[in-house]
Amino acid sequence: MRKLSQQFGVSISTVVQAQRLLEDEGRIEARPRSGYYVRTQPWPVPELPALSRPAKRPTPVTGQELVLSLAQATNEADFVQLGAAVPHSSFLPTRAIQRSLSSMARKYGNELSTYQFPPGNPELRRQIARRMAEAGCRTHPDEIVITSGCQEALSLCLQTIAKPGDVIAIESPAFYGLLQAIEVLGMKALEIPTDPQTGISLAALSLALEKWPVTACALVPNFSNPLGCTMPDEAKQALVGLLAQHDIPLIEDDIYGDLGFDNTRPHAVSAFSDKASVLYCSSFSKSLSPGLRIGWVIPGKYREKIVYRKYVSSLATSTLPQYAIADFLKHGGYDRYLRQVRRAYQRQVSMMIRAVGKYFPQETRVTQPRGGFVIWIELPDKVDSLQLCQRALEQRISIAPGPIFSATRKYCNFIRLNCAQPWNDALESAMIALGRMAHELMTPN
Ligand SMILES: Cc1ncc(COP(=O)(O)O)c(C=O)c1O
Repeated sequence: MRKLSQQFGVSISTVVQAQRLLEDEGRIEARPRSGYYVRTQPWPVPELPALSRPAKRPTPVTGQELVLSLAQATNEADFVQLGAAVPHSSFLPTRAIQRSLSSMARKYGNELSTYQFPPGNPELRRQIARRMAEAGCRTHPDEIVITSGCQEALSLCLQTIAKPGDVIAIESPAFYGLLQAIEVLGMKALEIPTDPQTGISLAALSLALEKWPVTACALVPNFSNPLGCTMPDEAKQALVGLLAQHDIPLIEDDIYGDLGFDNTRPHAVSAFSDKASVLYCSSFSKSLSPGLRIGWVIPGKYREKIVYRKYVSSLATSTLPQYAIADFLKHGGYDRYLRQVRRAYQRQVSMMIRAVGKYFPQETRVTQPRGGFVIWIELPDKVDSLQLCQRALEQRISIAPGPIFSATRKYCNFIRLNCAQPWNDALESAMIALGRMAHELMTPN
């Protein structure tokens, strides 16, 4: 590295960055305790999956209980955790959060044992309002309601604007937590074709809105889960217009919005709307700590109803985590942390895509997200992802099988992998094992 730095007249850190870039592109490879070597043949980068083609009618959601058993696998320490979209603790600012927790516990001793009733901690709401500017939204702290994670925010929004039997238009494939909320509330999901790069098809959504009595639309417009796609600004604007035409509210889930690889924070759809008809939901589960369970909703004209429902559903969100996250946002260097973790996730995603190209069957396709940390993989038709999941669990590897991302249990040959796990020998062995199992399932005996 010193030699390269002298030869090109650049700093060592520039050399390191250049090597990482070349490694990400598959042009060089690292050999343990030996250095970087030029690769004779770069790994093939798999193609993208095609635009999804879900069932064209509203469907009640059933059978999502499988997801709980997969989530429980994340509590097993010896599993390679590629199933739930939970970042490994080494990617999270755990020490800084611990400092905020202890300093707030010392400072607010007595207050911590009382409820912090909805809408929630004022300082936390001030800090979130300040950060909403990054997503292009002017927000007053009083517009924000603190929730126990984004999942509670989504569920409160659905309960508030729709009733059992109502139809909710969603992306396909969709985040399974949303499908579960629709399931337990007795609503129906209408899955809309979605492009793995640009998100929901507005043409298909427009046709669906003409045909079906849709009550609300619920989307993840930035770095969605599982596709990782982001709607371009023009599409976000057009979506707002389309929904206004039909007088349909949007539940916007922006949980991955802060995790874009190119350091520019994409706009929220809310930035293009009059706010009244968008219920914006998010949390710090992907960026700071899933365990602290701090999320929020900006419910627009539904604020009073949401505040009351939040109170009825869980009285209040835990007090200490609200103080701690407020303190971290104020003093903890959140932006500095984001700059570093965005790079780390970009690298993880690229290593995992490379491993798919290297170890999985040749016809495998995979998404190329520009943010977040999940990839969506289309395996050859013959591979049953539920069987793959079962075999992987026997080898202490958790993965998320495709059917849990659809109300009609489509995507039988798809899986989603969580890339926020440190790249090491165990992870590489798990990818080799998954590739081998996929090959075996292609030729059942
Ligand atoms: C798109 C999306 N929304 C919501 C959630 C739930 O977030 P929380 O843990 O804050 O409840 C997740 C977690 O996986 C998610 O991926």
